[in-house]
Amino acid sequence: DLSPIDKAKFAAARRAVDLIEDGMRVGMGTGSTAAWMVRCLGERVRQEGLRLQGVPTSTRTADLARQVGIDVVSLDEAKWLDITIDGADEFDRELNLIKGGGGALLQEKIVATASDQMVVITDASKEVNHLGAFPLPVEVIPFGWQTSRALIEELLESMDVLGRQTTLRLNGSQPYVTDEGNYIVDLHLNRIGNARQIALVLNQIPGVVENGLFIDICDMVIIGGSDGKVEIRD
Ligand code: A5P
Repeated sequence: DLSPIDKAKFAAARRAVDLIEDGMRVGMGTGSTAAWMVRCLGERVRQEGLRLQGVPTSTRTADLARQVGIDVVSLDEAKWLDITIDGADEFDRELNLIKGGGGALLQEKIVATASDQMVVITDASKEVNHLGAFPLPVEVIPFGWQTSRALIEELLESMDVLGRQTTLRLNGSQPYVTDEGNYIVDLHLNRIGNARQIALVLNQIPGVVENGLFIDICDMVIIGGSDGKVEIRD
């Protein structure tokens, strides 16, 4: 039996998978909600013989997709995608997002940007008035990461943000390492008033590869409820 939160995630995932049609090239996100989507998609592949090309956003998602019978291809093989379905850590009224709680933000942003449509699946707890309560993940290359972090902190000081604390994401006592071999610095900003600007300037720091702000990328949010109902924002 599923917990209420898993019922909500499942409901959103189920509805999103209804958007998939035969022959589509589908970006597959990362995280517990996206995992439900991959399982639902696999079920349609097995039951209906749906043909699709799935582009995963992490090794975790690739493994799961293969397990459930989805044809996994690289983004360069697919070239462009009809749709990407992914979770999020926060979303606001304008459908801007914070992503990367699961550490896969770089591939997630590349894949979502290469899609005609990005659909976020979530439970109601991720909705916010202002982005930023969830720590903003920033992917940095390991070379000179402490200098990059210091530059991020300097940048935050010059901008209108409430919190300025930053932490290196850890895996036990070691730095957490992304699929691309990078580190993640989490920014504890509390409230991001100028998300659009912060998303742009963070990426100007040479050691920063990408950040978890998804601005003008998401087209639709499907909010699942534990009663199995869904609400759609677009
Ligand atoms: C992965 O890097 C993240 O962007 C996920 O999409 C996010 O953390 C949501 O995960 P859950 O569905 O597990 O909450």
